[in-house]
Amino acid sequence: MKDILTELESRRADARLGGGQKRINAQHGRGKLTARERIDLLLDEGSFEEFDMFVTHRCTDFGMENQKPAGDGVVTGWGTINGRQVYVFSQDFTVLGGSVSATHAAKICKIMDKAVENGAPVIGINDSGGARIQEGVDSLAGYGEVFQRNIMASGVVPQISVIMGPCAGGAVYSPAMTDFIFMVKDSSYMFVTGPDVVKTVTNEQVTAEELGGASTHTKKSSVADAAFNNDVEALAEVRRLVDFLPLNNREKPPVRPFFDEPDRIETSLDTLVPENANTPYDMKELIVKLADEGDFYELQEDFAKNIITGFIRLEGRTVGVVANQPMVLAGVLDIDSARKAARFVRFCDCFDIPILTLVDVPGFLPGTTQEYGGVIKHGAKLLYAYGEATVPKVTVITRKAYGGAYVVMASKHLAADFNYAWPTSEIAVMGAKGATEIIHRADLGDADKTAQHTKDYEDRFANPFVAAERGFIDEVIQPRSTRKRVSRAFASLRNKKTPMPWKKHDNIPL
Ligand code: HXC
Repeated sequence: MKDILTELESRRADARLGGGQKRINAQHGRGKLTARERIDLLLDEGSFEEFDMFVTHRCTDFGMENQKPAGDGVVTGWGTINGRQVYVFSQDFTVLGGSVSATHAAKICKIMDKAVENGAPVIGINDSGGARIQEGVDSLAGYGEVFQRNIMASGVVPQISVIMGPCAGGAVYSPAMTDFIFMVKDSSYMFVTGPDVVKTVTNEQVTAEELGGASTHTKKSSVADAAFNNDVEALAEVRRLVDFLPLNNREKPPVRPFFDEPDRIETSLDTLVPENANTPYDMKELIVKLADEGDFYELQEDFAKNIITGFIRLEGRTVGVVANQPMVLAGVLDIDSARKAARFVRFCDCFDIPILTLVDVPGFLPGTTQEYGGVIKHGAKLLYAYGEATVPKVTVITRKAYGGAYVVMASKHLAADFNYAWPTSEIAVMGAKGATEIIHRADLGDADKTAQHTKDYEDRFANPFVAAERGFIDEVIQPRSTRKRVSRAFASLRNKKTPMPWKKHDNIPL
């Protein structure tokens, strides 16, 4: 028995060494952790239970029968994050470049199947040279099996991808179908075709970092939701994110202890909105002042900054926040901000996370770039996402809510549950100046008359009361008591159930 146990330990030690100390040193030399070190940081200490440590590939081509590393380039299993179960796979770049063989893919599929059966999130750490070239179509088939599971798991359990090395070619499509993508600056990249192919086909010269690095994907493409300085920081932030999320679509998000009174009054909010309607202010100040302990987890922070998305807690319960940001493009809606917010709203709705919408929106951004880019369809995504969302929806208009954008931003007409407005709100088809120029065009040459018309329009519509008279606004509230009002609104909606007509699935404008 002793010999058998020694043999087991020796095999385990061999498997844990992955591609060997030399390659581990090379990995560290690039500022990257190994697959196992990453799992250790991600999960609660000592909680990792590994599957398939001794799995090897079955390829016999190109001399592969002579190199059969235990585990086949990916470490898989489950563990806990602050006591809550998650499944994880972590590709091991030290083993054949983390390349994906049929068996490597099968290991990933196994934990994905278990995650769906047991209702726990899947966290995938990607660091791979892509399809195992020696295996040909077997490797591609393996990717296909993973893709199919990504699709089946979508909306059932949260899926988080952490890109910590190469992720190229068709391999990018697995992370692309997950709910969140995190990247590490300077050591990770994602692209469908690499710099060499780009040079040949389009004659563009770009580095891998420029083409698909963390900065590109968080600022330009919006493929990634956040970028971090190193592996340690990225993994700590995944833990923080998981704390906001339910484990699956059948359970509520976790309730955390909170030390912040739900009816905390914030007098400073009474002066947040400047007197001049064209002066910007920082909507993040409102978000932070509403949140339990001021804790705001922002997503896509560097993309489409005219809209803000992220999670807070109210009375210890997760709330998704969507907010126009008057500091950037006056908080206007455009293609990028509509897409960003629509995807976030849909995530919240999948996982029963209530949505708080903070509105200060002058309308949609005009211009050929927007129209040619399909702002009609992209704007419709946000409208559609709000309208189909059945989670509790509470909306607070702080200042402008003009035109179509008023309707889009979780208005009463899109089945929001509570619609509040600050006394500073202006709910109208457009601003007073624009309105006057259209309906009193004949008087445009007369400055006095135009000023009077503008004032008349402002008196009539630059307030929340017309909408409140019609019940489109449930209550005009004091800015200082917003946290209390919103917390109570969500508390009253905890048992909300909304029956929906039968359909196979919807057809959101794509
Ligand atoms: C087999 C691979 C591999 C792969 C790397 N390795 N990629 N083995 N299949 N795809 C091996 C290398 O041979 C090497 O083995 C070790 O991993 C480390 O690789 P290096 O090249 O030394 O590392 P580095 O210089 O850091 O370069 C990393 C790399 C490069 C940029 C990822 O290895 C590379 O270009 N690999 C090929 C990428 C690729 O074309 N993949 C297929 C993409 S198509 P030794 O023994 O020397 O240490 C694809 C389709 C998916 O993925 C489709 C899904 C539908």
